[in-house]
Amino acid sequence: MNESNALNLLVSQKKQVAKDILEFQFAAGDESELPSFQPGSHIAIATPCGANRQYSLINDGNKPTLYQIAVKLEPQSRGGSQSLHEQLNVGHSVIVQRPDNSFPLVDAPGYLFIGGGIGITPLIGMARACQSSGKSFRLIYCARSEEHAAYWQDLKNTFDDSVVVHFDGGDPEEVYDFWDEFMIPNPDHVYCCGPRPLMDEIKALSGHWPEQQIHFEDFNPQSGRDYVNIPFTVSIKSTGESFEVGDSATILETLRGQGLRVPSSCESGTCGSCKMKLLSGSVEHRDFVLESDEYESAIMVCVSRGKGDIEIDFEDY
Ligand code: FES
Repeated sequence: MNESNALNLLVSQKKQVAKDILEFQFAAGDESELPSFQPGSHIAIATPCGANRQYSLINDGNKPTLYQIAVKLEPQSRGGSQSLHEQLNVGHSVIVQRPDNSFPLVDAPGYLFIGGGIGITPLIGMARACQSSGKSFRLIYCARSEEHAAYWQDLKNTFDDSVVVHFDGGDPEEVYDFWDEFMIPNPDHVYCCGPRPLMDEIKALSGHWPEQQIHFEDFNPQSGRDYVNIPFTVSIKSTGESFEVGDSATILETLRGQGLRVPSSCESGTCGSCKMKLLSGSVEHRDFVLESDEYESAIMVCVSRGKGDIEIDFEDY
């Protein structure tokens, strides 16, 4: 995304909706209308720890005055979900990316929505859209227990018999049996979002269905993306210097620590000021700034990292 895609919003609500799951609502300071979005959309957020995370939007996207997300505290969080839970409070400002949609609801005769745990979030808007347009749908929501299942009672109240809620108590022997849903292919489209084992199971069960009818949320927006930092060497062509970037430092921090001046502002991959030339090596781009056609030639050094050793240089060299 480019800079103009970033919205500066305020946290207008924060509340617990299940064990380890908090709902956040973001609104403009003057409560004005926000960019609309379609079911399945997500927003990216610059979290207080500086990492960027993506979360599915839950509320109605037609001329919204707020964005509603739910954030699960991930046990292996490297700071993203943890910093949202612990440091982001009502009244704080937050930078979010305009909604984007990599899980769009295509036109179909009917739908089967399958959500596991916090993976329910993108499916709520889809079910709501089907209800308003009179489209046939079923929603199967699997979770460990009532305590772990955000919004399950609201969903039952709103969608009645169109919703099946299944609690397995964390016992692999008690997981929902989906075979009846997939045994005989039909023209409905299937949307699935949840933990990897659930998505793997649906992939396996739907192998005899036309591929274009089965949709998965690939980037795991329900929990945000938690990256793993691997140390690497960054070389600066114009100065001839090389530095080790450890797993707890960014390139920007490393260069700054060596007395090199790199412009920076947000330090969360959203403002565009720390852009440097990428001359060689492969990069994990974690910013919201670069367009994909810039990935081979540029890097935002406040958040992005080498997948191995990389050579970069200042923009004006
Ligand atoms: S994108 Fe703002 S400092 Fe890097």
